[in-house]
Amino acid sequence: VGRDDSEIRCCSLEELHRVPGCAKPLGPLSFSGQHTVLVDVDAFNKKSVLVVQDGQPMWDGNSVRMPYAPENTLKSVVFKDVQPRWITIKKELGNLAKSKSVTSSEVERAIKKYNPKYQHRWTFDALHHFFKVLPVSEKPTYSRTLSRIAELALKLPDCCKKNIPLLQDGQSKSITLSQVQIASLLANAFYCTFPRRNATGPHAEYSNYPIINFQSLFGQRSERKGQKFRAIFHYFQVVTGVSTVPRGLVTFSRCHMSTFPNWKSCTALLPKLYITSEGLIEKDGQGMLQVDFSHNLVGGGVLGNGLVQEEILFLINPELIVARLFTEKLGDNDCLKITGSQQYSKYTGYSDSFRWTGPHEDKTPRDEWQRRHRQIVAIDALHLKNPKEQYNMKDVRRELNKAYCGFKGEDKTNPDCYPAVATGNWGCGVFGGDPRLKVLIQLMAAAEARRDMAYFTFEMKDLEMDILRMYNFLKTNRITVAQLYKSMEKFWEEMRTNGKQPSDLYSCIRSYLEKSKSKN
Ligand code: AR6
Repeated sequence: VGRDDSEIRCCSLEELHRVPGCAKPLGPLSFSGQHTVLVDVDAFNKKSVLVVQDGQPMWDGNSVRMPYAPENTLKSVVFKDVQPRWITIKKELGNLAKSKSVTSSEVERAIKKYNPKYQHRWTFDALHHFFKVLPVSEKPTYSRTLSRIAELALKLPDCCKKNIPLLQDGQSKSITLSQVQIASLLANAFYCTFPRRNATGPHAEYSNYPIINFQSLFGQRSERKGQKFRAIFHYFQVVTGVSTVPRGLVTFSRCHMSTFPNWKSCTALLPKLYITSEGLIEKDGQGMLQVDFSHNLVGGGVLGNGLVQEEILFLINPELIVARLFTEKLGDNDCLKITGSQQYSKYTGYSDSFRWTGPHEDKTPRDEWQRRHRQIVAIDALHLKNPKEQYNMKDVRRELNKAYCGFKGEDKTNPDCYPAVATGNWGCGVFGGDPRLKVLIQLMAAAEARRDMAYFTFEMKDLEMDILRMYNFLKTNRITVAQLYKSMEKFWEEMRTNGKQPSDLYSCIRSYLEKSKSKN
């Protein structure tokens, strides 16, 4: 640390609030018009048992169209009559479930039987290749897993009875379901049974939703897909294991916000900051509100070729993938919070170097609703076509509001004990943002949401030191959110008029703030 850094300080990781330490009492589990619960709340509250909540799926534009719904039909090629598709699914997956050892070709055949439209369009080369190169010793386990996934998929009518609403644009709604229910839904996604979810293009009914059927994972073989299969199959091995079935709940909450702070007049000071170039959000930010650098279609390319922060998070915590079944594309003022998901896998590397390295035994304690004390918030940054535009105040406000929507907690009684935000270079990889700008935006949003922050620069030491210097300056001078906002306005103005460059950001902000301080 050079002379310039002698004054530099950030707080220690231990100073930041986390759950379960700062968890609030939840009260009994309850449902409402805004909160759908797929287990029987009385049985849960009185006897702490998970019993499937009775109900019936609806077949309309506001609900998940279930594969076993009678309205989901298939025209018989031979008899030309119309039958419930579930009959064919039951027959095909029933055969796989009976077999002790299923091949990838049998998977392909089965899936195409109840998706005849895609007979010649869908390819399964990635799945076939995965099985082909598996070491002989591992083949039986994986073939057996294919069979167990089929068995799990067929349990859906018994384990998910209640209607699942779609979390639509503009809504603030939650869904709580058991990890077993999620597993069965994902088994159906694996076997591509969800109706109307295969068509793409602007006029498709679900064009505004992420892909959920796993077909996109099975084609277009690549090294990455092999590693993804490892993580996915491991998840299914655990959830279908006799002694390893997870017994808890997970909540998915879509939050839509319609009023935002007037950033120009926010008097909040910046929160505490812990910053490091070592460590990872999911590993070192345990118990904090962990940011998923998401796509507006949550999960991004997890079922395709994508393999960066969000996709890795979804692969090691596959329960997150079920969000794709019901979460409509996030708007500018929306986020998705997921509470209680479990981590099943370990990994190393990133992108092309990503490797599945084995099982993770999740020891995260559970809350009163039997959810793991893990909260993840999906917020999608702007995907920048022209990086200079991000300094434009319209873009800055968009990102401030998005981060604020993600960070804002609901508890009004004791807002001073929110878990800190665990984040990093949000929007600064694939989406092309400037981390020096984004960190300030996130700090401002966290200040307003009354949360401290742990920031992981992902091995970028220079970035860590630059941010620390800037943060130290802002803290020492007791700079408010509003003052910082105004200095960003000035910077944008000067970029437009005086040719200031993105690399001038911190020096300019510093000099504006110093000048305005000396004026006062
Ligand atoms: N912990 C801390 N920092 C990380 C971690 C981690 N685990 N992983 C990555 N980083 P990126 P984006 C840092 O590109 O730009 C996905 O496809 C690392 O410096 O994933 O918001 C989504 O689905 C990395 O460069 O986020 C979206 O489509 C930076 O975070 C799109 O990418 C940004 O990670 C979002 O792109």
